[in-house]
Amino acid sequence: MADTSTTAQTKNSRRILVTNALPYANGPIHIGHLLGYIQADIWVRFQRLYGNECHFVCADDAHGTPIMLKAQQLGMTPEAMIEEMNVAHQRDFADFAVSFDNYYSTHSPENRELANLIYTRLRDSGYIHTRVIEQLYDPEKEMFLPDRFVKGTCPDCGAEDQYGDNCDVCGATYSPTDLKNPRSAVSGAVPELRESEHYFFDLPAFGDMLKAWTRSGSLQPEMANKLNEWFEQGLQQWDISRDKPYFGFEIPDAPGKYFYVWLDAPIGYMSSFKNYCEQRDDLNFDDFWRVDSDAEVYHFIGKDIIYFHSLFWPAMLKGANFRQPTSVWAHGFITVNGTKMSKSKGTFIMARTYLDHLDPEYLRYYFAAKLSSRIDDLDLNLTDFAQRVNADLVGKVVNIASRCAGFISKKFAGQLSPRIDDEAMLRDFQAAADDIASAYENREFAKAMRDIMKLADCANEYIADKEPWQLAKDESKANEVHDVCSMGIHLFRLLMIYLTPVVPALSNDAQAFLNDKFTWDSVQQTLTSHNINKFKALMQRVPTEKIEAMLEASKENNSAAATPAAVAQAKVNIEPIAAEIEFDDFAKVDLRVARIENAEHVEGADKLLKLTLDIGDQKRQVFAGIKAAYQPEQLIGQLTVMVANLKPRKMRFGMSEGMVLAAGPGGSEIYILNPQDGAQPGQRVM
Ligand code: MSP
Ligand code: ZN
Repeated sequence: MADTSTTAQTKNSRRILVTNALPYANGPIHIGHLLGYIQADIWVRFQRLYGNECHFVCADDAHGTPIMLKAQQLGMTPEAMIEEMNVAHQRDFADFAVSFDNYYSTHSPENRELANLIYTRLRDSGYIHTRVIEQLYDPEKEMFLPDRFVKGTCPDCGAEDQYGDNCDVCGATYSPTDLKNPRSAVSGAVPELRESEHYFFDLPAFGDMLKAWTRSGSLQPEMANKLNEWFEQGLQQWDISRDKPYFGFEIPDAPGKYFYVWLDAPIGYMSSFKNYCEQRDDLNFDDFWRVDSDAEVYHFIGKDIIYFHSLFWPAMLKGANFRQPTSVWAHGFITVNGTKMSKSKGTFIMARTYLDHLDPEYLRYYFAAKLSSRIDDLDLNLTDFAQRVNADLVGKVVNIASRCAGFISKKFAGQLSPRIDDEAMLRDFQAAADDIASAYENREFAKAMRDIMKLADCANEYIADKEPWQLAKDESKANEVHDVCSMGIHLFRLLMIYLTPVVPALSNDAQAFLNDKFTWDSVQQTLTSHNINKFKALMQRVPTEKIEAMLEASKENNSAAATPAAVAQAKVNIEPIAAEIEFDDFAKVDLRVARIENAEHVEGADKLLKLTLDIGDQKRQVFAGIKAAYQPEQLIGQLTVMVANLKPRKMRFGMSEGMVLAAGPGGSEIYILNPQDGAQPGQRVM
């Protein structure tokens, strides 16, 4: 394995393949996704600029139950839906300058072939076993139900409408067969337990190999710790099959059984690269994937999918006689203005909505300025975002060129001076190259940006000190003006070389202006007596009103945010209508207007607020799972609707005497129903 932990020194000798996690083909790209793609792209662009051979591939992750059901709901074939999504994803990535060499799909012939090959090799080496398991089955829809597609009453606290794997209200985790009153979220039918034979991959057989890999030194320390925790808990057999109907690849020797989406998803890295090699005569797939390959392979991923990439994936590769990744690099999650991205606040920003309002280079720079090699979450604070970009890129870097360029073109016919005004300073700028290169190499982008901005400060001080605009008033000082402004341009050029991986479009414009073509080695050359082109404004300040407009356009139900993909997303979030009931059933429910007299936090409860409701002649105490959506003080005094004749239930924190009505997808997006003013507590709701 290559030692990449220190510098990027040995030039032109490395062959590198980089991937970023494959986005699911059932929704548009949002700014949360973009963090990983931009991080990986900056690293890739640095490697290429530095002179290494670096290939960057990706694909849509096109299989699985959610994709199958979504296509059904849209009235499309899954093939047509994933095709449309693939086009939209590629457009978004291209507009953010994510420089994939190939963007493919896991629903491809190459991927089917490689998945079959890997499976067959694993099977022939004895790593695949079958076992009959019991699972909930939807008799109406005639399909087995993944945990997330079963809903029912929490066996622990009695909260209704909870998912099959865990309770949003009390936080309990359980298996879907423990739910009381379970319903299929697909059809509303009562699911039944059915048996089915499943295929399992023998992950525990790879314990020693995975432990060795963990100690290899190429993993992030946080990831190695996580892996050690998992080793302590013990590795489990991994269920890699799903029964039909399923959108995916049928298992070659098991009709009616399909590979679970997570089996063929990472193989998508290989198959996208294979497809790329088929388009290029000079690239050989095996050179990168055979066991003794000396090429480097890196996977950039988000922290939520570490298990798949650091356990299953290396073990599958090992068992199928392929090389393992050199490393897997995880990043944290994006929050916006300090909280989880939220549709109601307008901070669930789609890539396309951002592009409709703002320059992608702003976001690339801001991410770079905050990214380290650690797995920390990263907050996109939009005020800080505007200030940072304006102060650094516009105020410090571009400003140098705009202060010097005019003199060069007007007074010196666009030709730089034959002299270097401050040799020592130029050498300092050039000497920074190694530190900046290793910061990029080690994914310490924030450090690289700090180093570059420190240099930019020096350059600005130099110009402020020399005041070329004063010198220019004195005809006899023409040479000085020429030298100072040329020096400014040389410094600007060095800064732009260093920033090239982060802001490629700005760098291209700078190269056009400087009449130059950057490589990392360009740092060591100086363009004395060189002709440059006329200067055009390179970057505008962040227009703050555009940020507002972007948030507004991102708010749910706003038609400006209604890209076809977003509309598709919104449509399928509507759950199907449950089975019909008789009028008498409905009439049994006594709904009443209630005034929220008091609302308070419940000690030890993650999701619950304790409400005291006034329903005219009675007071009721109700626990409601709306803590993520409301501060208690926001609720006090509001009118809402409650189910007044619900049998009181004992919950962990006390009796709950009814239920309040609310709507929304869940989490922080739950809205209690408010009757109009004028309704009185205790009145019936019909
Ligand atoms: N399809 C799987 C990955 C398969 S890789 C063989 C998947 N897809 S995803 O669309 O949900 O996520 C794609 C990438 O975006 C993942 O790396 C994921 O961690 C990342 N992110 C999704 N939301 C994110 C944030 N809010 N913040 C940062 N990264 C996030 O997982
Ligand atoms: Zn519960």
